[in-house]
Order: sequence, then C-alpha cells, then structure tokens
Amino acid sequence: MKRLKIKEVLTNGKTETQTLVKGWVRTKRGSKNVNFIALNDGSTIHNLQVVADVAKFDEQLLHEINTGASLAVEGTLSKSQGSGQNVELLAEKIELLGKADPDKYPIQPKKHTLEFLRENAHLRFRTNTFGAVFRIRHAMAFAIHKYFNKKGFYYLHTPIITASDAEGAGQMFRVSTLDAVNPPLTEEGKPDFSKDFFGRPTNLTVSGQLEGELGALALGEIYTFGPTFRAENSNTTRHLAEFWMIEPEMAFYDLKDNMDLAEEFLKYLISYALEYCSDDLYFLADRLKQEEKGKPQDQRSMDLVEKLQFVLNSSFVRLTYTEAIDILKNSKPFKKNKFQFPVDWGIDLQSEHERYLVEKHFKCPVILTDYPRDIKAFYMKQNDDGKTVRAMDVLFPQIGEIIGGSQREESLEKLETRMKEMNVPAEEMWWYLDTRRFGSVVHSGFGLGFERFILFVTGMGNIRDVIAFPRTPKNAEF
Ligand code: 4AD
Ligand code: MG
Repeated sequence: MKRLKIKEVLTNGKTETQTLVKGWVRTKRGSKNVNFIALNDGSTIHNLQVVADVAKFDEQLLHEINTGASLAVEGTLSKSQGSGQNVELLAEKIELLGKADPDKYPIQPKKHTLEFLRENAHLRFRTNTFGAVFRIRHAMAFAIHKYFNKKGFYYLHTPIITASDAEGAGQMFRVSTLDAVNPPLTEEGKPDFSKDFFGRPTNLTVSGQLEGELGALALGEIYTFGPTFRAENSNTTRHLAEFWMIEPEMAFYDLKDNMDLAEEFLKYLISYALEYCSDDLYFLADRLKQEEKGKPQDQRSMDLVEKLQFVLNSSFVRLTYTEAIDILKNSKPFKKNKFQFPVDWGIDLQSEHERYLVEKHFKCPVILTDYPRDIKAFYMKQNDDGKTVRAMDVLFPQIGEIIGGSQREESLEKLETRMKEMNVPAEEMWWYLDTRRFGSVVHSGFGLGFERFILFVTGMGNIRDVIAFPRTPKNAEF
C-alpha cells in the first residue's frame, strides 16, 4: 500500500478509505479502552490523530509507543469526533519502526526553551516551532529562485574558495592545506603559501559579488544564492559566521533601479509566505503571542501576520544617510543620551540607530542611501561631493540592516584611485578591473542576508534559530 503524507491526508483524505501513514509520535494519551496518538511526519504543522483500540493491539507494543518513536500506521480514515480536526485514523495495523526511550529522549511533550533546543539542535526539527521555521525557510528559498527566474535573471554559482576579500574588511576564514602548527616557512620566517594547495593564500568567500559582476557584465542580470563566511567576532542575535546570501547583480541598473528591485523582491517573498505558508505563520504568530503574554501592552510586538501584511502594503521610505543622521540627532533618545553609541556624521550606524529610524520614527521599512565613502567598500560608485558613495541599505523593523548594496563604480580610473587609497591590491584583481577596461557599463546590485530575512518572516528573535546548524564563535559542534 502506498504511504500518504499527513498533509495530504488532512487536506484531501477521503473518509472510509484504507490509509497508510508513517511518522513520529508527538504525544500519546489514552484511557483503558483507547489510545490517541498524535503523529507528525514533517509535511505540515498539524498532527494526524491515530485512534488505537487497546483490545486490538499487543500491550507491549502500545507501551512502547512514546513521544519520539516512529510508526507506520494503517487503518480506516474516518470523520473525527473531536474538535480541531476533520479526520482521524482508526488504526488496524501499527508497526513500531523505531523506539524512543522516554527516560532518554530529550524532546518531551512540554514547552522547551529555545536555548535548550539549541543545545539539542540535532533533534529540534521535531518540534512544532522548528518544523514551521524550516518549512518557511524552504518556501522562501524556492520563491527566490522563482522570482528571479520569472524576471530573466540567471543563477550564477560563484566560488566558495577565493583569493580576494570582496568587502575588504579582513574578516576571512583562511583555507589552507599547510600544517597549521608547523607550516613551511619563507626566508623571512612567514608561512610559505607557494607550497599551499593553490600556491597562494585563499579564504572562504565573504560575498559572491565581485564574481557576480563579471557575470552581470555579460549575461545582463544574474543572482547568486550561497553560503558566505565572516570571521567577525560578533556574538549577537543578528550575526552568524556562516550565513546564506542572495546577491543579484544587474547591468544597466542605477541606484534607483536597484532600490526598486530590492523593494519589489522583498514584497514578493512576503506575499509568497502569506499565500503558501499560512499554517506555519499562524502557528508562529500564536507562539509569539504566548511568549509575550506577560509583557505590558505597549512592549508587545505586532501580530506576525499583520506585520507581514503591513510591510507588504507600505512604501519603503527612501532618504540619504545625511538626512538620517539629522533625524537621529534631533531624536528623543539622542537628546536624553539614551543611545549606547554616539551619533555623528561619518559613523557606521548601529542597529539601535537603524531600529529607531524604522520602528520609532518612520514606522515602516527604510532605504538609506549615499553613505560616507570611508565606511563603505572600495567598489561603490562615488558621488560628485567627494564624500559619499551610492550605497543603499534596506532597514527592517525588528532586524535593522537586512540588505546592503550599491551602484558600482564603473570608471576604471576612479576605481583604481580608490583601490590605491584603500590598499586594495589592484594587481591581484586585474580580472575585476578588466570589466571596467572593456565595455564598462553602469551596474548595481545588493546582498540580502537570508537568515535575517527569515528572522523577519518567522518573528523569531535569534538568528541561531533560523538556520539548521548555526556557526557562531566557539560553536560548531554539529
Ligand atoms: O552589507 P554586506 O556586507 O554587503 C555585501 O556583502 C555586498 N557584497 C552585497 C552586494 O552588494 N552584493 O552584507 C549583505 C547582507 C547584510 O545586509 C546582512 O543582511 C547580511 O548580508 N549579513 C549577515 N547576516 C548574518 N550574519 C552576518 N555576519 C552577516 N553579515 C552580513
Ligand atoms: Mg552592510
């Protein structure tokens, strides 16, 4: 008999038909005569209720059906007597596929803290919360490809191992086959990278952008979607050492086109989530409400689904960095010395500043442009004022920076000068500069931090809870 997924059974299952399902036990409760087993197979947030007549089954078998055990159940689907579900499965055959010792299985049917589940990340997929998060994460990855495919963008696979530092921030993980403790040395006593695998120092990529630009300046519009790595020692709820980034890069796009694309793209993903992930979203919305029950009304967050609808229907406010600094300097927290970090023209905005602009001042997503050139990467197009570059950051409620991007410098001369000023090794990047030597054009792109976006959509509070196996300082167990 062919197994049906529980989602299929709950939505399209025909009563009075013979049905086979397989899954993991979430709970079992029962009386002397009948056991009710809630079975989940990951296809949906909802469990299928299996009804087992005690008289029909071996006592030992029923005894071993505990939370976490895996079962195959065959029976007749029937209209449910209970509330909250349309159908239930009247078991005729139960096969215990794998036991789970109730004294040892960590995921018991009670409320576990997210911290506890992080320590048990290998099993946390089996909870409702993480099931919902990872189904939504999957749907968003799919929607990203769907969106770009529809718009004629090509998915370009840029390298994971590179010799260049795209962001120039020096936050790279070295990739080397040299002996880490006793590497071969040069005459000056430094590690001899000519003896390394690639014959030069290499790193895990911090961004696929530079290679993405090469693609865009021939294919027109491309995007990358892959893992990126940053050895920044930031132990925050917004930073990972390994995160996934979506980086579209477009020939003939200026900064305005870039902003328009970013806004349209984000809204497409949000509307996709609302349309295709509603069961999981409603579950997470409810979870958030339960969690914030004790908080005073004005400190509770907006209902998750309402928040997504709100962002979908809002026009993102666009203003320059300079205008934002003025707003911050006239703000209450600034005047009352409530910001932890000082505000002055030239600073790199901290998440408290970004969140003030989005959550308190404008109360909607914001796109900031034209940042000081000294806090941004070498490749951004310089404005005529000699001080700012055509950068754009998209700031979201609850998150702060979710997208970073820019129009790129297309002039060879200006780019070379800037690279010299910023000590970016131009000789090693001859291949990048060739795009400006031969058929250079106006072009732009941006990077969306996938996990930051998933944080926003799921309403989760910690980036470690939206990636399956988080990599953070001192944490790479599994
Ligand atoms: O602003 P960033 O550093 O921009 C770039 O890497 C550009 N090369 C992108 C481009 O123009 N093609 O990073 C882009 C986004 C950030 O806005 C943030 O959402 C995310 O990547 N991000 C991180 N997410 C999680 N953990 C980290 N350590 C992150 N660093 C950046
Ligand atoms: Mg950035």
